Amino acid sequence: MRQATARAHSNIAFIKYWGNQDDDLRLPVNPSISMNLDNLYTDTTVLWDDTLASDSLTINGESASGKALERVSKHLDKLRKQLQISSPAQVQSKNNFPMGAGIASSASAFAALTLAAVTAAEVELSERELSALARLGSGSASRSIPAGFVEWHTGKTHGESFAETVVQANYWDLIDVIAIVSDEHKHTTSQAGHPTAKTSDLQNARVAGAAQRLQICKQAIIDRDFSTFTEVVESDSNLMHAVMMTSQPPLFYWKPTTLTIMESIRDWRSEGLAVCYTLDAGPNVHCICISNDADTVRNRLQTLSGVIDVRVANAGGAAHILP
Ligand code: DP6
Repeated sequence: MRQATARAHSNIAFIKYWGNQDDDLRLPVNPSISMNLDNLYTDTTVLWDDTLASDSLTINGESASGKALERVSKHLDKLRKQLQISSPAQVQSKNNFPMGAGIASSASAFAALTLAAVTAAEVELSERELSALARLGSGSASRSIPAGFVEWHTGKTHGESFAETVVQANYWDLIDVIAIVSDEHKHTTSQAGHPTAKTSDLQNARVAGAAQRLQICKQAIIDRDFSTFTEVVESDSNLMHAVMMTSQPPLFYWKPTTLTIMESIRDWRSEGLAVCYTLDAGPNVHCICISNDADTVRNRLQTLSGVIDVRVANAGGAAHILP
């Protein structure tokens, strides 16, 4: 078989990845932990084809060139080296969520691309090896290979930096209620942002505490302890954004509506609603709660002015091959 199609889910980090020891290998400076999102995914078909002159890429049915194709081709070069093949590839990728809705797609995209490319080459790799390979395309993609709640180990070498399941998706019924406040393409991608992290005086302090926050977060997940979880998740997100805002050049991802939502979440919590927030490299707010409260959180978010859409996602499974 020279062709395979894989599906991988997007993920939301509870303890964040921000900054690399090695940008080319995407060896992070700290470990991270995340949850896969079941109904936000990318399906990617890879065909290794010797008759092609070069790699080609379509995203949601449209032919892609420029930076998107360059990044995919660069990842394919790394895969060709690992898989010891030389054929160009035809890549067709589809997201089931709207592009430009401000939901990160590089995690699901590079996880699906990696699994499809390896399977199409008829090479059998362990989940650990697949996760490390996906990492080379996008750091967060390493966490979209295993199922459920996932920890990405920092590592000092390529093979040591991989992600694995902490607990399966059905272990805890956490929901990510995503408030979309902007559908603009961000000015600074994560890829461009990571190298700036070290220019912030706050990055060393953030990194120094990351392993401990990860342990607290992991234990809170294992204990299904939402109040400990809330404290550490919001703190970690605030720390990452503090680093972003104090880097050179400074990165301000928040919009006024972002702050309104964060404040509302604190108010709702003081009234007894169990919900917390976390933000990636963008203005949208991931509101995490237990499934019983998801409708309430969604309804309340929809009443806030500036919220243009709300998406709801359960914990999701591993990347897998589609028939
Ligand atoms: C803020 O994985 O998107 O979402 O490795 O350059 O593709 P690249 O970066 P990416 O960075 C994600 C950063 C984050 C936090 C996180 O998901 O851990």
